[in-house]
Amino acid sequence: MPYRILEKRELVPNTYLMKIEAQDVAKAAKAGQFIILRIDERGERIPLTIADYDPNEGHVTIIFQIMGKTTKQLSKMSEGDSIEDFAGPLGTPSDIEKLGTVILVGGGVGIAPIYPQARAYREAGNYVISIIGARSADLLILEDEMAAVSDELYVATDDGSKGHHGFVTDIVKEILDSGRDIARIVVIGPPIMMKVAAGVTKPYGVETIVSLNPIMIDGTGMCGGCRVSVGGEAKFACIDGPEFDASKVDFDLLMSRLSLYHSEEKKSAEEYEHRCCEGECKCR
Ligand code: FAD
Ligand code: FES
Ligand code: MG
Repeated sequence: MPYRILEKRELVPNTYLMKIEAQDVAKAAKAGQFIILRIDERGERIPLTIADYDPNEGHVTIIFQIMGKTTKQLSKMSEGDSIEDFAGPLGTPSDIEKLGTVILVGGGVGIAPIYPQARAYREAGNYVISIIGARSADLLILEDEMAAVSDELYVATDDGSKGHHGFVTDIVKEILDSGRDIARIVVIGPPIMMKVAAGVTKPYGVETIVSLNPIMIDGTGMCGGCRVSVGGEAKFACIDGPEFDASKVDFDLLMSRLSLYHSEEKKSAEEYEHRCCEGECKCR
């Protein structure tokens, strides 16, 4: 069954929001889960987090950054076009309960998956402190949406063009140093950011959760592509995760496995650009 694109918007350069008509996924979705889509029958499968969902209207929102061939191809699709496969919801939902004060940290396109979590933690009765960051102010997404579901919102930019001049983890450390009682910290962003955050929070002993983004293929625990090491044990992020205790994750292994296919990905993107320029795609 094809899945229709109901809405498409470029949020910031190279990052797009799409609302997809997907009744079954929207009905079953929970914060922390993801979908795996395939644009057409010749396409590869890519995982994207469910950034929002509306069970009544029957649509799911995805937010993606252009990284290579498939995300570029997706970014060229228009409202009214259809995606061939949109499988989900996949993964174990976030374990959200009333804990007290919770810090939600999102970096770059990681703000998209942190948004439904902030909303769900708030709805569960928690006091939500959100910290979002980007390289610069013009690359920051969902600031208004995050403000609406947070009790406190802090912004950090690498270049100081908005909010704190520095990293989201600087603000996390400041809050922990202030002695406030924090029940849990959830961090989603580039692996290096999650690794740094895990190191920052460890001495304080505050439970810290990260959502891992290894290469995924089937999303059902069969292919082994998403293997990660947590507490010395092999886990499949697609079914055992994607969320894990940050203090136990081997981030170096995650990062090295993410770069395993760089030369093939580069070749695929170049071939796509070439075909695209010869008029095979819709970008003209
Ligand atoms: P490519 O050039 O093929 O790859 C670029 C890089 O992306 C690779 O080097 C590799 O590190 C990674 N990648 C490639 N293929 C995959 C794959 N099949 N699975 C995972 N990573 C891959 N990105 C977003 O922008 N928004 C999201 O909400 C989001 N949610 C994700 C949720 C999960 C559970 C996971 C595992 C990943 C998520 N990602 C998200 C990352 C996204 O899947 C990749 O950026 C995308 O697959 C890149 O595809 P590409 O063909 O455009 O780029
Ligand atoms: Fe295949 Fe997880 S994606 S086992
Ligand atoms: Mg790809």
